[in-house]
Amino acid sequence: MPELKFLGHACFMLKEGPSALIIDPFLTGNPQAAATADQIDCQYILVSHAHDDHIGDTVSIAKRTGATVISTAEVARFCGEKGVQAHGMHLGGKHKFDFGVVRITPAFHGSGLPGGHACGFIIQFHGKTVYHTGDTALFSDMTLLGRLESIDVALVPIGDNYTMGPSDAAEAVHMLQPKLVVPMHYNTWPVIAQSPEVFKQDVENRFKVPVHIMKPGDTLAL
Ligand code: NI
Ligand code: MN
Repeated sequence: MPELKFLGHACFMLKEGPSALIIDPFLTGNPQAAATADQIDCQYILVSHAHDDHIGDTVSIAKRTGATVISTAEVARFCGEKGVQAHGMHLGGKHKFDFGVVRITPAFHGSGLPGGHACGFIIQFHGKTVYHTGDTALFSDMTLLGRLESIDVALVPIGDNYTMGPSDAAEAVHMLQPKLVVPMHYNTWPVIAQSPEVFKQDVENRFKVPVHIMKPGDTLAL
C-alpha cells in the first residue's frame, strides 16, 4: 500500500516498498523539517518551482542518491547544469515513469527562474492519485482537473500571503472533489500562520470532503 509522508512546509514523500519520490525537498533551513537532506533516499525528486522553500535540497539529494529531478524545462535545465539527472516537462504534459504517470499542472505563481513557470503535479503513484498543487492562486480550471482525474488526495496550500489562503483553498477542494485533503504551506513562518482545524471544519461542513491534518513526520497510508 503506498504511503504519503509529510516532511514539513510543502515537502512530501511517496513510498511503496523500495520505490520512493520526494516533492519539494526544502529541509535545510526549514524550521518544520521532519528529516535532514542526508536522510532522504528516493529515485525521483519533483520540484514545483525554483523558490528556495521548494527547490531546497534538490541538488544535494540528487547528487548523493542519483535521483532524477522531474520539473518544468527551466528548472530541469538548471538542475542538469548542476550535474544531476533531470527530466524536463511542461504545463499540460504527462509522462509515464516506473511508478506511474505524472501530469504537470499550471500553478499561478512565480517560477523563481527567468522565463519559467511554476507548476503542480498530479501523480499516479502505484495506483493512487495525489495532486500536489504547488504554490498557487485559486484558479477555476481546477474544476476541469477534478473532472479529468480521480484524485485520492489533494495537497493544498492554506498559508495565504504567497498562495491561496484557507477560504480560497476550500473553494479549490470544492472544484477538485478529491477523496481526501491535506493542507500544506502554513505555519512555517509567522507570515503564513493559519489554523488547519478551522480549514478542516469549513471544508467538511460546506463541501463534505474529509480533511486530514498532518504534522511534520506523519505518515498516511493511501
Ligand atoms: Ni514559491
Ligand atoms: Mn512557497
